[in-house]
Amino acid sequence: MTLEEKIGQMVQIDRSVANAKVMKTSFIGSVLSGGGSEPLPKATAEDWVNMINEFQKGALESRLGIPMIYGIDAVHGHNNVYNATIFPHNVGLGCTRDPDLAQRIGAATALEVRATGIPYVFAPCIAVCRDPRWGRCYESYSEDAKIVQEMTEIISGLQGSIPPNSRKGFPYVGGKTKVAACAKHFVGDGGTAKGVNENNTLIDWHGLLSIHMPAYSDSIIKGVSTVMVSYSSWNGAKMHANRDLVTVFLKNTLKFKGFVISDWQGIDRITAPPDSNYTYSVQASIEAGVDMVMVPYKYDEFIQDLTLLVKSNVIPMERIDDAVERILLVKFTMGLFENPLADTSLVNELGSQEHRDLAREAVRKSLVLLKNGKNESTPLLPLSKKVPKILVAGSHADNLGYQCGGWTIKWQGFSGNSDTRGTTILSAIKSTVDPSTEVVFRDNPDNEFVKSNNFEYAVVVVGEPPYAETAGDSTALTMMESGPNVINNVCGTVKCVVVIISGRPIVIEPYVSTIDALVAAWLPGTEGQGVTDVLFGDYGFTGKLARTWFKSVDQLPMNVGDPHYDPLYPFGFGLTTESVKDLVARSTSAAIGVRACIFTIMVTLFISLYLTG
Ligand code: GLC
Repeated sequence: MTLEEKIGQMVQIDRSVANAKVMKTSFIGSVLSGGGSEPLPKATAEDWVNMINEFQKGALESRLGIPMIYGIDAVHGHNNVYNATIFPHNVGLGCTRDPDLAQRIGAATALEVRATGIPYVFAPCIAVCRDPRWGRCYESYSEDAKIVQEMTEIISGLQGSIPPNSRKGFPYVGGKTKVAACAKHFVGDGGTAKGVNENNTLIDWHGLLSIHMPAYSDSIIKGVSTVMVSYSSWNGAKMHANRDLVTVFLKNTLKFKGFVISDWQGIDRITAPPDSNYTYSVQASIEAGVDMVMVPYKYDEFIQDLTLLVKSNVIPMERIDDAVERILLVKFTMGLFENPLADTSLVNELGSQEHRDLAREAVRKSLVLLKNGKNESTPLLPLSKKVPKILVAGSHADNLGYQCGGWTIKWQGFSGNSDTRGTTILSAIKSTVDPSTEVVFRDNPDNEFVKSNNFEYAVVVVGEPPYAETAGDSTALTMMESGPNVINNVCGTVKCVVVIISGRPIVIEPYVSTIDALVAAWLPGTEGQGVTDVLFGDYGFTGKLARTWFKSVDQLPMNVGDPHYDPLYPFGFGLTTESVKDLVARSTSAAIGVRACIFTIMVTLFISLYLTG
């Protein structure tokens, strides 16, 4: 390989600046879709396959014909793509405590990603979010390292389970229905001060190792193919320039043999205006151990700088060879050389009913019941399906975009019901209750309206708007403005269950006393039926908080195990309910048991009377 061909393999560009010619002449090794970057609005699986094959044909026409690898953020299903199944975000999956479910979600996601011709995903995010003020907290399974470690089982679903006796640290992808995964963002992204995104994680070596590092060990044991570096810093040192952690620890100590990829313009942020110095950024990141750079636009400048740094012996050829070997190892391992071109054989997997049913199961298991009735003797849930009239209220009851959250179709998510296909909570309620039950929907009803109708009960669905990354950083952590108003207008007048749609715990303490039942639904995704499955008792509530629910933001950061631990609802909390079916079965067997006892007593009495004459 020439130096140009080697450096080309280390370059990842966005699809918006890619074409067959660039792939061929610049020897580009990888292309990506950034958040929301699609071939055309509501592109079909075939559209995606055709676009990716165009880029691939260009790569295959280069001198050595090394196939390119296309990557995308599939962080809760194939979330960039119209009609894909959108699973609950990680904040909800952590509440399931179900690694097997995570594995099945990974397998379903891999199928939907491959349906569009893509072999590589920038997932899972294995951040351990330690402060809900962080705009990416919903991408984290838990504040607890052990839960995050358990949920790395999703990697086995995405890539396939690593064969026994596999060599530790080597990447593994098991065939054309699996994808290469990416553990991100290395390391300590969820521990920044005050949850400020891309900022500084101030923690000692023991703290970093015990909280933020364990899931990387699990990921490597499971054969994760790539690791993405975090924008954040550790004790003031930028992770993208941190050779001690990226090379000495991740590659040498943890024996990671896949490739390390930068984040989007991650190397650019090593230096900041007015002292920006891109050449220094290139040098520092490659020396630190970054193998592939998500440039993603100014690839000419990157190639020129790195070529100059190598030719002037600032960066040794050994470092370039290490990077390229790792990239080619992943490409060879996953069969990209044997099968570089995508086909449309899996297009029916995209948004399949089987996957939607799996997502519905995940929603059910992720919901956490925080309150059920003003006192234990008067539980409100499960709700009755057959009553004369009910009210559904709130900004999030009929908004697919809100219930999916960020990283859905668009980078920052969307509002409304037309950007993709799914079931809103309102639609799910309408299809769950008895046909004779009148369902009235108002997104922001006043108290007069509530009083003037004789509602049996109300389902109030409120919460946060969609957001991603820094746009989600918040010091107030309040719900959308109409929320408190709806709660006060409805819950003071009619029995109400409040369903919170949010990427994290938010301010709810002031309203709890007026609420009869309270459910944390997190960001459930497209399958709203999973919410009604438990509200109406077709299934019981089983979810347990994977994050501490604070009383007030003044308490933050506050995590389980902290000395000053005084939560509204503690880590691990969650009320359970039985399904109506189980309840009936149990009470029937109890009744049978009582009748059997009475019968036995009667027979015993009769026999004793008979014998004693
Ligand atoms: C973003 C995110 C990262 C994502 C990448 C590509 O800025 O930090 O999680 O994988 O860019 O979209």
